[in-house]
Amino acid sequence: MIKKETIDRIVETALVEEVVGDFVQLKKRGTSMIGLCPFHNEKSPSFNVSPAKGIYKCFGCGKGGDSISFVMEHEKYSYPEALKYLAKKYNIEIEESEITPEYQAEVDRRESLYIITNYAAKFFEKTMWDTLNGQTIGLSYFRERGFRDDIIKKFELGYSPDEWTALQDKAVADGYRPEFLEETGLTVKNDSGKVYDRFRGRVMFPIHNFTGRIIGFGGRTLKTDKNVPKYVNSPESDIYHKSNVLYGLFQAKKAIRDLGNCYLVEGYADVLSVQQAGVENVVASSGTSLTTEQIRLIGRFTKNVTILFDGDAAGIKASLRGLDMILEEGLDVKVVLFPDGHDPDSYIQKLGSAAFKTHIELKQQDFIFYKTQILLKEAANDPIKKAGVIREIIESIAKIPDAIKASVFVRECSGLLNVEERILIAELNKIKLTKLKKDYHQGSNSETRNHLPAAGGQKPENSQPETQSWQPEAGSSKPETLETDEYQERELIRVLITYGDVLVNWDEMTDTYIGPYIITNLSDITFNDKLCERVITYYHDELDKGIMPTEKTLIQHPDKEIKDLAIALISSPYMLSANWYNMHHINVPDEKTNLKATIMGAIFHLKKKKIATMVINKQKEMQAGNSEEQDNILMKDYLQLKEVEKYISNYLGSVIIK
Ligand code: GTP
Ligand code: MN
Repeated sequence: MIKKETIDRIVETALVEEVVGDFVQLKKRGTSMIGLCPFHNEKSPSFNVSPAKGIYKCFGCGKGGDSISFVMEHEKYSYPEALKYLAKKYNIEIEESEITPEYQAEVDRRESLYIITNYAAKFFEKTMWDTLNGQTIGLSYFRERGFRDDIIKKFELGYSPDEWTALQDKAVADGYRPEFLEETGLTVKNDSGKVYDRFRGRVMFPIHNFTGRIIGFGGRTLKTDKNVPKYVNSPESDIYHKSNVLYGLFQAKKAIRDLGNCYLVEGYADVLSVQQAGVENVVASSGTSLTTEQIRLIGRFTKNVTILFDGDAAGIKASLRGLDMILEEGLDVKVVLFPDGHDPDSYIQKLGSAAFKTHIELKQQDFIFYKTQILLKEAANDPIKKAGVIREIIESIAKIPDAIKASVFVRECSGLLNVEERILIAELNKIKLTKLKKDYHQGSNSETRNHLPAAGGQKPENSQPETQSWQPEAGSSKPETLETDEYQERELIRVLITYGDVLVNWDEMTDTYIGPYIITNLSDITFNDKLCERVITYYHDELDKGIMPTEKTLIQHPDKEIKDLAIALISSPYMLSANWYNMHHINVPDEKTNLKATIMGAIFHLKKKKIATMVINKQKEMQAGNSEEQDNILMKDYLQLKEVEKYISNYLGSVIIK
């Protein structure tokens, strides 16, 4: 684990405007900076960076955070990966703290697997460039296929000597442990215990994870013998999981994000050729059928996928259903078919880059239309088959989470299928309803998450942000639908964080800080939301120690959940019922000048909500069939509560605080 001191240093050193500035062009505007949001497509900038607060926030898509979360979000790094990235940028030496020997051993072991894999890649590369066999067999193979040296180098291609133990011998001589070679599948042990290299006499394609570490290999034979498998791949290991790796993603990810689209091809060779043609946003699924993990991986960088099908792919029809999976993940899918016998690689090598680009431009088709055409052609004039086609198409459309998009497809398919739109819509609704019911019984899955508000008001991961939502992500449900007091609780926490250290004089006698004022006023209230409760407890404890928490201490809080909440809350202008604000003539920039109204509003709205719950609970108790004596006590409590409720309502409804 990275030492806390190191983390603190990184947090202090990594200026948000510099970290973000590496990826986004920022312009100064007042005290903050503004640019085009890198997390969603936009033409006018709504991405704000506040150097003073050390945070960024996009008012378009709602993404926000500090330097570290920016790197995590933008580069898709884990927390430690992001810290390492920043440490490198600022030349900060990473100090790791004491961890358990078991954990350390596991980390060391995985690290060793990465190291040996990287070592092997370098060995294959050196063999190809620096040995006679490598040059005459491996390198000349690539060159004859038309690959330029810069592409061969960019993908770190290599050649494995046609010997039984070349890698094994060299690695062991260089001090590497044989068991790591075996664990990564670079060597194989046969039944009689003999160990030999898996890859022999093959050209080598190293496979990177998206952060750029080499985790496995594909090795292509140079023989034309049909009995020799064309490709041999690394087996699964602790660092290589086929189902969540895409070949070429590391080299493509920047282009994918910049261009907002990802080309998906089938083979290693296709990735190389398409890249060589100057189209850098390309990845391959490498022979395995596409997995959900791979689709989500693409979805982290773009929502648009264009699939480049081999012309000779016999299984195009079989693959159609698989593509529904991509729709289900909310991605837009287009397909391009290549002429018979061609894959993207052979097309480019034969007809050139320009022809390739033109072909894509002209032939790309939305997946649904493409599917419709293929199925229709098959059904020909058979009415029964055609009914099946309609159903199948509508089933695909039903997978699209975005209702507006789906309705566009319904309209266009109604033309293609020559079926009235309303009939298609009825069919669509039927499918959706069945699915909703099924999901309801099974508990939620990705489909329902997109239709029903998720429990706890959490946004489903990867969901498209609502446009111009001013509410913090942490509580993104609309207030009307919220039956809990989460809304009021969070607003209270927000004003506490934002104004806690402001000194006021509201009764003209004593100066008071808002923070302690709020805390004292809330002593009789328990927060439902555990996270809010934690903030209150933290605040309380700090005050007890004589420390006044500030916005800064909260947005840099070591507890990541508190920190995230703080950032989300302070980036949102307000949450409470707009009505009340209007009534008190408060608008957003005004919040500060009418601070007393803001704070009192937050406190009383929360109290009102709590009282309302207590009133309901009291009513329930009274219905429980008690003794007369009990009922009298309950009634007295009840009336008292109603009294308080009325007082608060009056206060909120009529009093204008200056
Ligand atoms: P070239 O023939 O060199 O152009 O290869 P390619 O990349 O075009 O391969 P192809 O279209 O034949 O196959 C697509 C992908 O499937 C390859 O890139 C491999 O990842 C995988 N693949 C193909 N043949 C084999 C095989 O024999 N074994 C395994 N494990 N995978 C294979
Ligand atoms: Mn090929």
